[in-house]
Order: sequence, then structure tokens, then C-alpha cells
Amino acid sequence: MRKKIVAGNWKMNKTYQEAISLINEIINATEKLDIKSEENKLIIIAPPFPYLQKAVEMTAKTLSIKIAAQNCHSEEQGAYTGEIAANALQSLGVAYVIIGHSERRTYFNESNEFLAKKVNVALQNKLTPIFCCGELLLHRQENTHFDIIKKQLHESIFHLSKDDFRKIIIAYEPVWAIGTGVTATSEQAQEMHAYIRNLIKDAYSNEIADNTPILYGGSCNSKNAKELFANIDVDGGLIGGASLKSEDFINIVNSY
Ligand code: PGA
Repeated sequence: MRKKIVAGNWKMNKTYQEAISLINEIINATEKLDIKSEENKLIIIAPPFPYLQKAVEMTAKTLSIKIAAQNCHSEEQGAYTGEIAANALQSLGVAYVIIGHSERRTYFNESNEFLAKKVNVALQNKLTPIFCCGELLLHRQENTHFDIIKKQLHESIFHLSKDDFRKIIIAYEPVWAIGTGVTATSEQAQEMHAYIRNLIKDAYSNEIADNTPILYGGSCNSKNAKELFANIDVDGGLIGGASLKSEDFINIVNSY
């Protein structure tokens, strides 16, 4: 059975003190929820880099919460001032890493090929990639959105072996919905998630496609999460703005 996952991407927000308060609130709220095992419902928190170690320590006893980095570099190590290596993250106990977020693609010119290297280095260092894909509004208007997603997946993750692909989480995040307050309709989300699952079926197998979590991201909040998550191929969400307040975030977790 696929995992149900709600991941909070804090982006470049929160001071250290604010981060600690928010993590504490999420831990307290999670302990009241009926989450018996990390197998069926998983909460992932992706705070800024400097807070990762503390976040890992704080959540160590709460099995349903895992910590993700928001990025890693494509090389193992070396002279890349200001960058963070996957093995550095792994050595802190970080388990997941977001790769290919549209903000990285747009502001840092990260190409599909470059992201493929990041996916490789993450997996080599036992990090689970949360691989983001998504089309621009223009692509949807031109009706090329399916082609764009297909290209992103083919060029960044479909080179992986079956064993490695089994470790991947995909997040479909239409760029026009990220941080805009305009969310994809439930039908648009389901249609694209089913399309992605079919691509995985063709590239790998029915079994692998059935077991790959595909999250929706883009203005997902406590009001629309229930409807989005009710779709058969939507396995949870990657949440930006609404992950910055514990009440909103936990309401989203509860929408599943
Ligand atoms: P948003 O961001 O929920 O603020 O739209 C989602 C994301 O960027 O992962």
C-alpha cells in the first residue's frame, strides 16, 4: 500500500527560535493523532539547512515525522562554496531531500540533466528524493503540459534502476499554483497524477507504479486538501505557505 504523505516545505522562512516552536507544536499535535506507524501516514518537515540537525534530534522519537532537506548539490563533495552535500545531510540523520522544486529550476537554472545528477547523488547517500515536476501556465494554455511532465520525468528520474526508482517520491506541482492561491482543480490534479502513474507503469512496472507516492503541491491548504487527497492517485501533498502554521499543517495532515 502506498504511503500517505504530507510534507511541509518551509522554504526560506522562520528564525531558529520560530522553527523550534513550530516543530514542537507539530510533534505535540502529531502525538495526539492516530498515527500508529510510519508505514501508512508520514509527515515530513523540510526546514532551512541550519535547523536540520536540531529538527532530526527533536523528532527522533516521533516515528511518523521525518526530516527533509530542501536541496542538495549534484556532486559528492569538493570546492562548491555555500553548497550542501548529500552525504553531509545523511550524516545528520536527514532522510529525505526535495529535488527539482520549481523555485530551484527558475531562480537557479537547474536543468533536468542537472537534477538527474542530484537524484543519483541523493540515492547513493541513502536519501529519499522528493522529486518535483510541474508545468508553467503557458504550457497548460498551449496544451503541452503532459509533454513537459513526461520530459521532466524521462530526463531526471527514468534512468534509475527499478530498485532505485522504488525509493522515489514524486511531487506534482503546477508552477502556476505555487504560492499563488490558485490551486489545481481536483480533476486537474487527478488527471496529471494518473498520467504520471501510467508513465511509471510504462517505464517500470504496474507494481512499481502502484507503489510510488505522488504528492500534489501548489496552494494546497486546510480548505482544499480533503478534496485533492480524495483522488485515487493523489497520495498527499507538498505544502509551502500552509506548512508554516502548525494548526493549518495539522489540519492538512488530518485531511487524509
Ligand atoms: P505553496 O508551495 O503551498 O505555498 O503553494 C508549495 C511548494 O512550493 O512546495
